[in-house]
Amino acid sequence: MTACEPQIIGTSQAILKVRQIILKVADVDLNVLISGESGVGKELVARALHYYSGRREKPFMKVNCAALPRELMETELFGYEKGALTGADRRRIGKFEAAADGSIFLDEIGEIPLTMQAKLLQVLQDQKFPRIGGNKEIGTQARVIAATNRNLEAEILAGNFREDLYFRINTISIVVPPLRERKEDIPPLVDFFLEQHRAIYGNTVSAVPASLMELFLDYHWPGNVRELENYLKRLSVLGNHPEIERELRCQMDISAARETAPRKDGAADPVQDVEAEPVLAVPKGKKFPSLKEVRDQAVMKVEKAVIEQVLDETHWNRREAARILKISYRTLLYKLKDMNIRRMD
Ligand SMILES: Nc1ncnc2c1ncn2[C@@H]1O[C@H](COP(=O)(O)OP(=O)(O)OP(=O)(O)O)[C@@H](O)[C@H]1O
Ligand SMILES: [Mg+2]
Repeated sequence: MTACEPQIIGTSQAILKVRQIILKVADVDLNVLISGESGVGKELVARALHYYSGRREKPFMKVNCAALPRELMETELFGYEKGALTGADRRRIGKFEAAADGSIFLDEIGEIPLTMQAKLLQVLQDQKFPRIGGNKEIGTQARVIAATNRNLEAEILAGNFREDLYFRINTISIVVPPLRERKEDIPPLVDFFLEQHRAIYGNTVSAVPASLMELFLDYHWPGNVRELENYLKRLSVLGNHPEIERELRCQMDISAARETAPRKDGAADPVQDVEAEPVLAVPKGKKFPSLKEVRDQAVMKVEKAVIEQVLDETHWNRREAARILKISYRTLLYKLKDMNIRRMD
């Protein structure tokens, strides 16, 4: 089945350049490395490369290298023969074999452990491999497209990534810049997503209020296009622009406080964040709350903002979020319920 045409929206020079290079290299059988922060559109670029190549009708196989431990990654990539592993009661083909003469997309390639990097390099050099537990060599003509949100050159210096593998996958390099560096893409992206959401959710939101657009243009977009898409999904379904505006302002205050008071260990300083915005505005003549109430509300507010940010950055991987926040998984689940934090997409 042919996938529909991937649409890379944007009018910035950076996006024009990305679109140009895709068209130029799509049909050349060279390996491509796509780099950029999380949510900038790396997978979209990979799909576009496949779509505009002569391999469009062939398979596009995606492997998420970050999600798999080494043993599973090996079987995922190369498959196994019956009896090769415990529980292997029949042969299974891997993603390289399934990709055949299509494309294989190695997402988050920077996460592959070193031992596996050596094996992958070997396969890319020889263009053949045996299934795990097998002797027969399987040839592969798949075009390799890799993506990373890490700086692989720094990883090479740190001894975490093989230089020879880097040169093998990085024949052509496409860098997708973060959204904050190409803000003129925001208005066309907003139109594009609202239109898309109208078709999916049947809502009637056809534009964002000027006040929200102003914030969109000011915001630093740590989660890039995916984050923008999520806000617009919420707006389309719930129509709650004042709440979104409040949230964006809160996020901006947190990052401003972080910038003015960076901690030596590089982590955010929650106390500074509290000071960035009045925690509790008490109208003149109204009774002041007790200090305990103030404290509880302040703590809750900061915790909520930080938890949401960490969940956003971990793509709602709650175990990873709990690890970063140094709380137990159960505590995190309790807090999500208590603070009414829900995934919106
Ligand atoms: N220029 C763009 N035009 C239209 N949609 C876009 C654009 N860039 C990104 N998107 C959309 O934003 C979302 C995130 O993009 P994508 O998954 O390709 O990012 P990514 O760089 O692979 O992120 P991650 O590193 O987190 O995996 C997707 O829904 C994608 O379709
Ligand atoms: Mg991706």
